[in-house]
Amino acid sequence: MLARLSNKHILLGVTGGIAAYKSAELIRRLRDAGADVQVVMTAAAREFITPLTLQALSGNPVHVDLLDPAAEAAMGHIELARWADLFLVAPASADTLARLAQGIANDLLTTCWLAASGKKAVAPAMNQQMWADAATQVNLETLKSRDIAVFGPGSGAQACGDIGAGRLLEAQQLADLCADQFESGLLSGTHVVITAGPTREALDPVRYLSNHSSGKMGFALAEACVEAGARVTLIAGPVHLPTPARVQRVDVVSALDMLAASAAVVNDAKAAVGSARTVFIATAAVADYRPAQVAAQKIKKGLKDDTLDITLVKNPDIVASIAEQADKPFVMGFAAETHAVEAYACDKLARKKLDLIACNDVSRADIGFQSDDNAMTVFWPDAQAHEKVARVELAKAGKSQIARELVRLLAARLTP
Ligand code: C5P
Repeated sequence: MLARLSNKHILLGVTGGIAAYKSAELIRRLRDAGADVQVVMTAAAREFITPLTLQALSGNPVHVDLLDPAAEAAMGHIELARWADLFLVAPASADTLARLAQGIANDLLTTCWLAASGKKAVAPAMNQQMWADAATQVNLETLKSRDIAVFGPGSGAQACGDIGAGRLLEAQQLADLCADQFESGLLSGTHVVITAGPTREALDPVRYLSNHSSGKMGFALAEACVEAGARVTLIAGPVHLPTPARVQRVDVVSALDMLAASAAVVNDAKAAVGSARTVFIATAAVADYRPAQVAAQKIKKGLKDDTLDITLVKNPDIVASIAEQADKPFVMGFAAETHAVEAYACDKLARKKLDLIACNDVSRADIGFQSDDNAMTVFWPDAQAHEKVARVELAKAGKSQIARELVRLLAARLTP
């Protein structure tokens, strides 16, 4: 499992607390697993352990000051933040958690945190009463909602004499959790094709019918599939999202474009890796209908016309057409429902011949469409299960976290 840390750049943030001594052991474990480690310390951390110790163990100069011209010349704080594949703050004190949750950047560690674009994690360590305090718990929830992983804390006897939750996890546990953040290999050898975003159906050269889909879920899934070792092609409708690293992107506009691109990419993928290792994931909110005619010129409003009739024709069902194929790939669909969520999801699962369907309740304002969070129920055919359908609930979490959980479910259902 630790091979996943090989050549990974880990930025370790050490904050003030008695558990800071465990950082020394953690650095050794991370380096033993092949990671390259740089350390940034707060002023309080230096009261507990010296930069020299951590420098010797990490093999790199330790970063302490935001305003040190010599250190900035060697590796500026923005450069350091960008260097990190994973930024882990361990131990993370209550004060540091509060500053991270609030976006305060008043020292080198918190400034790097804001500037870091890679994965982020915190390993809290504090007195059990400080851990239980409502303010600390709210800060934790804020960090979790931003897809920041929280490692521990463990519970037991504390340095202050109390017993309870708040102990920093052991170095090996922390190193294992760091490894878990990276590519799992769950989808290696597969080619995953994902549709995402809305489609736009032209009425005339300047107008179209569309919907509010942001594309975030599809993009998060693309990222999670790459992380799991898949080759990924993302067929995206018009969205304002950057292409995730190592993802091949095909931009489309209408449902008919999306259908043509999906069929072509799926065929290429099947030819390359075989249908059993090809996965089609339909997250796109495809417009159900398109105007029967696209006016060649802008439709003008007539002086006497209070109404305008537009004839719409049904768009093809992209996911169903892929699932119809004789040597069909593994097919996963999504359903956004406002009511009778389970009934509609199960109907789509059967009618569209899907292998898996993830469903969310878009009547909830806190999840879905434009939101960064999601909560889902996933269904799949299972002859042994009640009503021949198995299900699992994914609790509300950031879309990347949900995407990783979906990848795990998907990988478990792919035939080896
Ligand atoms: O029928 P409904 O639109 O609710 O089904 C949702 C699922 O079907 C999603 O996975 C969506 O991407 C897919 N779909 C499609 N082509 C359509 C309509 C929906 O691929 N024309």
